[in-house]
Amino acid sequence: MASLAIVNYQNTNKMNLEDNAKRDGFSSKFGILCAAAGSAIGLGNIWRFPYVVGDNGGGAFLLVYLGFILLLGIPVMMSEFVIGRRGQKNAYGSFKKLSKGKFWPWIGIMGILAAFTILAFYSTIAGWTLEYVYLALTNSFKGLGSEEIGAIFETFHTSDFMPLLWQVVFMIMTAWIIIAGVKKGIEKYTKILMPFLFLLLLIILIRSLTLPDASKGLEFLFKPDFSKLTTKSFLEALGQAFFSLSIGMGTLITYGSYVDKKNNLGRISFEVSVADTLIAIMAGIAIFPAVFSFGMNPAEGPGLIFNVLPNIFQQMTGGYIFALMFFVLLTIAALTSSISILEVVVAYMVEELNLPRRRSTIIAALAATIVGVFCTLSFGALKNVEIFNKTIFDSLDFTASNILLPLGGLFIVVFTGWFLGLKNVKDELTNGGIIKVRLFIVFVFIIRFIAPVAIVIVFLNSIGVI
Ligand code: TRP
Repeated sequence: MASLAIVNYQNTNKMNLEDNAKRDGFSSKFGILCAAAGSAIGLGNIWRFPYVVGDNGGGAFLLVYLGFILLLGIPVMMSEFVIGRRGQKNAYGSFKKLSKGKFWPWIGIMGILAAFTILAFYSTIAGWTLEYVYLALTNSFKGLGSEEIGAIFETFHTSDFMPLLWQVVFMIMTAWIIIAGVKKGIEKYTKILMPFLFLLLLIILIRSLTLPDASKGLEFLFKPDFSKLTTKSFLEALGQAFFSLSIGMGTLITYGSYVDKKNNLGRISFEVSVADTLIAIMAGIAIFPAVFSFGMNPAEGPGLIFNVLPNIFQQMTGGYIFALMFFVLLTIAALTSSISILEVVVAYMVEELNLPRRRSTIIAALAATIVGVFCTLSFGALKNVEIFNKTIFDSLDFTASNILLPLGGLFIVVFTGWFLGLKNVKDELTNGGIIKVRLFIVFVFIIRFIAPVAIVIVFLNSIGVI
């Protein structure tokens, strides 16, 4: 039986190889691990995680978040990899190839839409990060107090020209890497620099922890106060978990299609999720002690890290060089994430619409930039334009992160659990019976029952039905 399974598996493998003779792929286990971790680790961990935790009152929110990562995040991630490697195509094409009828490919289309939306507002914040590289380089924070540092951010992010310029620069960098292709582009850039970011974050975190009153920040982050949880917190925790892990819109379906048949999908998912969560928590430990030490407000919103971090650098020996290195690395982390978002759209355009890679990239990046301009201006000139009581930026972020991603995740687990065929799922997770997958039953139970029910409950809860 087992050997038959292996032969079958190798046949699909061969078929896929012939099918995809010209397809680019990752060249090593380390390559895919870095690329997936590179996608997951980004502004989501360092910019979004601290401010969302701050907005939602700290410790109790963190617990809910961790629960969602474990219970929903890892299984959704495994499901995406399974669909992608089985389908050997982009998010739309993989669903089309693996399913009958017209419904499922629409989930791929929804993912491609989410990718546009996320790229648009992601590039706004990545642009801010570039400005901070420039400010760090020119030593602009030297000798300033926290109020003056706050004023710099206020003036910059509400102005019209510079944030747009940096946004465009960031998009050009993203597009440029994507045009270079998977191996030369994505792998090369993600392999080298992630460990540096980890180390730097560790140094910053230690400085933050040794500031006066640091313990208040730790208490805020780790001491759960459940009275602070609202119905909205659960949806935000879910959205943050999906956003941070890069799941729910087909990034990891697309990357999964580039993964070698020999790689262990379960293990990659686990390792990526642990690394991603670790970086987010480290960012939290770096930010909150400083927030309280400098008497700032943890619920400051999207500007949180830009207001807080320069203060920490001020208090460090060698702060100039640490600040510079940090913002450069944060830009790189943002790039290895943004390329994974753009790749979803480009892979679709190349494989389904038969457009050349270069042209697809330029069209997709341009379209996202146009939407992105509105996101950026929604902090300044378009501050008063509101959609459902939210600024343009907030409403796009909310729609993509808290609605499209969890909805995508819901359909991804339902498809994997109920429509792909458990034999196929097992085949993919065990590499055709070659490797052992522990807890397969648990995984199936989660993707069939627990995850769909949990996501639906969070949705119903947030619109007040429950
Ligand atoms: N996870 C990335 C971050 O934390 C952002 C990202 C990349 C993403 N690919 C994604 C978010 C796909 C949602 C879906 O910065």
